Amino acid sequence: MEFTGKKSIITPEGVFIIGTYDENGIPNAMNAAWGMQSDMGEITLMLAKHKTTDNFEKTGAFTVAFGTADTVLISDYFGVETGNKVNKIEKAGCHVHKSAHVNAPIIEEYPLTLECKVKSWEPETGYLIGEIVASQADKSILTDGKVDLGKLKPIIFDPSFNVYRIVGEAVGNAFRDGLKLK
Ligand SMILES: Cc1cc2nc3c(=O)[nH]c(=O)nc-3n(C[C@H](O)[C@H](O)[C@H](O)COP(=O)(O)O)c2cc1C
Repeated sequence: MEFTGKKSIITPEGVFIIGTYDENGIPNAMNAAWGMQSDMGEITLMLAKHKTTDNFEKTGAFTVAFGTADTVLISDYFGVETGNKVNKIEKAGCHVHKSAHVNAPIIEEYPLTLECKVKSWEPETGYLIGEIVASQADKSILTDGKVDLGKLKPIIFDPSFNVYRIVGEAVGNAFRDGLKLK
């Protein structure tokens, strides 16, 4: 074993694209790696202060789309530019429509989007908890009505090399393979 320092390589880190509207209905998107499922129907994200946080403080809502192999360029752009300076959605050439369930934009270039209400937000700690009230998926990523990660081709953020990696093939059956050793 080699000592690799204190930098945490906790994997996987997602590529969560957070969509919000500002007070004038201008859509924005940011890239966040630090997030996870924290309950059935709930997502938790760790955020510093951004245009995005200003936005959902006013609207009480946001969407979360998943970065994919086909959306790497725009996903990274949403993490290196701020909506305080430019309209990133326009600059990226994205198309949006308003969620039917929450006051937040759905970015049509992403095939899977969660629609969330702010359940709790603590600016001091940066913990945002969202209640997932609905989700939208493009037909092209579904198999038998279920989201098929093999078709979605989600990406993860690799903080070791600062690259995005594609989520790979299935290598085992959850809740089944381990039963052989029981
Ligand atoms: C790969 C990547 C991961 C990021 N993860 C986070 C994160 O988890 N939390 C955070 O607050 N900012 C994160 N950022 C930074 C924001 O995306 C960035 O500051 C962005 O400009 C904020 O956009 P906004 O000002 O339009 O809201 C990340 C950026 C990149 C490129």
